[in-house]
Amino acid sequence: MVSNVYTPRRAVLYVPGSDDRKLQKITGLDVDCAVMDCEDGVAINRKEEARHTIRKMLDELDFGRTECVVRVNSVDSGLMEEDLKVIFRADRMPQAIMLPKVNSPQEIYQFTENLKESLKGRIQKQKLQLITFVESAIGLINLTEIFRNTTELSNSEGLFDLAGVVFGSDDFCADIGASRTADATELMYARQKIVTCAKAFRLQAIDLVYINYKDLDGLEKQSLDGSNMGFTGKQVIHPGQIPVVQRAFSPSPDRVEWATQLLQAFSHHTQSGKGAFTFHGAMIDMPLVLQARNIVQLAEAIKS
Ligand code: COA
Ligand code: MG
Repeated sequence: MVSNVYTPRRAVLYVPGSDDRKLQKITGLDVDCAVMDCEDGVAINRKEEARHTIRKMLDELDFGRTECVVRVNSVDSGLMEEDLKVIFRADRMPQAIMLPKVNSPQEIYQFTENLKESLKGRIQKQKLQLITFVESAIGLINLTEIFRNTTELSNSEGLFDLAGVVFGSDDFCADIGASRTADATELMYARQKIVTCAKAFRLQAIDLVYINYKDLDGLEKQSLDGSNMGFTGKQVIHPGQIPVVQRAFSPSPDRVEWATQLLQAFSHHTQSGKGAFTFHGAMIDMPLVLQARNIVQLAEAIKS
């Protein structure tokens, strides 16, 4: 599981940085994480406007419990440096930066240099969180090295903490020449690899976007699939998707009750010297106890 106790980013909502009206709506949505976007949600001729609008929103909006995040353009777009420069001129810093289309550790070095420059002279009240994206075959192959190098940079430079990874599935499909299907079998390997790598580094893993935003049944199914695979949250593009995703990535009351009782039974049986025992008709040993702990921990993190 993810090591630090945090409010999980169950629903991660994109809001185009050039759309003043949608940005203003963030404050009324009770979403876990709002991503003010400089990247693919913004047309190429509106990039400059998006940066400045986001900078203004950082200072003006009251985000409440919503984590305030900015997605900059990718390193190889040539636009990221300017994004960082403008955004960090705001009085209030975003809590996290999302860096899309990371293909190699070298890009993280470039990002860190540009970030250092943009943060010069600022006192950080809170460490910035960094969330990277995997959106290509080469990015997926290099994922472990990317996480390793980013963690090392985080320790040596002290500018950010690596907090999570997002699966940019549509760019990934384009890169590998896959066609999207309803049950996403073509993405199975990538999703499992992303979850495994993320958890090895104790990171959150944010699952794919469900683009048919009016189909809430399909969204629920795909969200539950992702949650069962170990993803901690999902990207959303429309306010109507938020409650469905939040529910799917929260343990149900029944599940929390089961886990709580199991942990009590475990404590009782340990005292009497038993490693394995029967609970609700099933054999329980340490792996099940660890899963129950995950559930109780997650429920507590969501409540707080
Ligand atoms: N963030 C905040 N508010 C949003 C929103 C978003 N992502 N998407 C829609 N809304 C608001 C709308 O402004 C509208 O409120 P209003 O009538 O008071 O203006 C309300 O929610 C209902 O929206 P609706 O009319 O159903 O959709 P739309 O036609 O305005 O927008 C999309 C549809 C898909 C264009 C829009 O949801 C969107 O831009 N999503 C983000 C896309 C994106 O960022 N993609 C890149 C990352 S994958
Ligand atoms: Mg993308």
